[in-house]
Amino acid sequence: MTKCPKDNVFYRNLNWHYPKIVKGEGIYLYDENGKRYIDGCSGSAVANIGHGNKEVAKAMEKQASTIAFTHLSRFTTDAIINLADKVAEMAPGDLNKCYFVSGGSESTETAIKMARTYFLERDGVTRKYKIISRWNSYHGNTIGALSMTGHTARRRKYDPYLINFSHIPAPYCYRCPYGQTYPECGLKCAYALETEILQQGAENVAAFISEPVIGSAAPGVHPPKEYYKIIREICTKYDILMISDEVMAGFGRTGKNFGIDHYEVVPDMLTTAKGMSSGYSPLGATVVRDEIYDTIAKGSGRFTHGHTYGGNPLSCAVGCIVLDIIKRENLVENARKMGEYLMEKLQSLYKYPIVGDIRGKGLMIGIEFVKDKETKEPFDPKQNVQGLVTVKALNNGLVLYPGGGSVDGVRGDHELLAPPINITKDEVDELFEKLDKSIKEASDELC
Ligand SMILES: Cc1ncc(COP(=O)(O)O)c(C=O)c1O
Repeated sequence: MTKCPKDNVFYRNLNWHYPKIVKGEGIYLYDENGKRYIDGCSGSAVANIGHGNKEVAKAMEKQASTIAFTHLSRFTTDAIINLADKVAEMAPGDLNKCYFVSGGSESTETAIKMARTYFLERDGVTRKYKIISRWNSYHGNTIGALSMTGHTARRRKYDPYLINFSHIPAPYCYRCPYGQTYPECGLKCAYALETEILQQGAENVAAFISEPVIGSAAPGVHPPKEYYKIIREICTKYDILMISDEVMAGFGRTGKNFGIDHYEVVPDMLTTAKGMSSGYSPLGATVVRDEIYDTIAKGSGRFTHGHTYGGNPLSCAVGCIVLDIIKRENLVENARKMGEYLMEKLQSLYKYPIVGDIRGKGLMIGIEFVKDKETKEPFDPKQNVQGLVTVKALNNGLVLYPGGGSVDGVRGDHELLAPPINITKDEVDELFEKLDKSIKEASDELC
């Protein structure tokens, strides 16, 4: 017997009891019984500017009453033009051209097709089509995006549908795939890309995609500082496009405009969504260098791809006001500062026997739970430690984003912490108190 509501909604987890949320305000959510929760993960690292923003509501009303929808195959609007300018201003290097979509999976799917189109336009006949990605990654749930995703639990059932793309190990220092430590490791995980390109044949490979700071598949994990310089050099050497998946890390979440900005390299494409509209409307974009755009413009002038809601004026108007608020309120810097403050406080959680690793950048932080701190042995998935911590936190009025499988695709429990990036110091203190209490309760029950 499931605990699911008896309404006509097809929920994704029929064994979950879904509290009904009736209001959001800043970092808080309120359910129908008046219970208040801190949204400690912004839904799924989405609600960057917080909930219930009246300025956004006003901008939506204005756009909806002016022009809510036009099809991008025939018209453009001020909302889409203005948003592209704002994204280009934030994006690194000459990544200026924005192909708007409705979410993260659409943006990574678009990147695949755009990479293929670029090589076809540039070279005429080409075999370049394969995408290399990493294990411990998530790039979306549609078939192309899932083929790039390196998250076993999300892939396994749909494996027969997936494209045969290959995956290299992630720069997961806490569980180094080579059993080594940085810097003595010599960044083997970065050079693994070169080996994989040679295995596949560079003439067959179009792009390499990765999350600069990993989201749901191993939250907060990010590589040492030299990693992306090596990746950039390898991509350039073998004529392969470098795609930075910024769906979670983008628009200030990590304390820089984009996650890749921490590494001072310029990728060829960004895939974005979530924070760009902060969840007020579905929105995403694939952002590319001038060279990719110019090659297509000088060639056939056509990118054969599109969705009905791509470049939706209402969503783009939301994107405009959200990016204005991020800029005006200096929220990228706030994410850096509050991230540092929170990370400092989180160190005390190592006193609990189940806390194995805490890592992250800005306000994109992961906590990994272990059965044994010394050996880093994970819990048996049957114990559902991620679920236990999540429920304890919810009872204490804190929403966390649980996940698992980071150790070997099956074992491993973690939580993503990613509160709205306009969180204040006092609110960080309140969040921490609830988190500490919840982990203590889970730890006491397990140990
Ligand atoms: C890095 C990354 N890429 C892609 C996606 C897919 O985005 P969406 O759920 O909007 O399709 C996500 C979603 O969590 C993500 O974190």
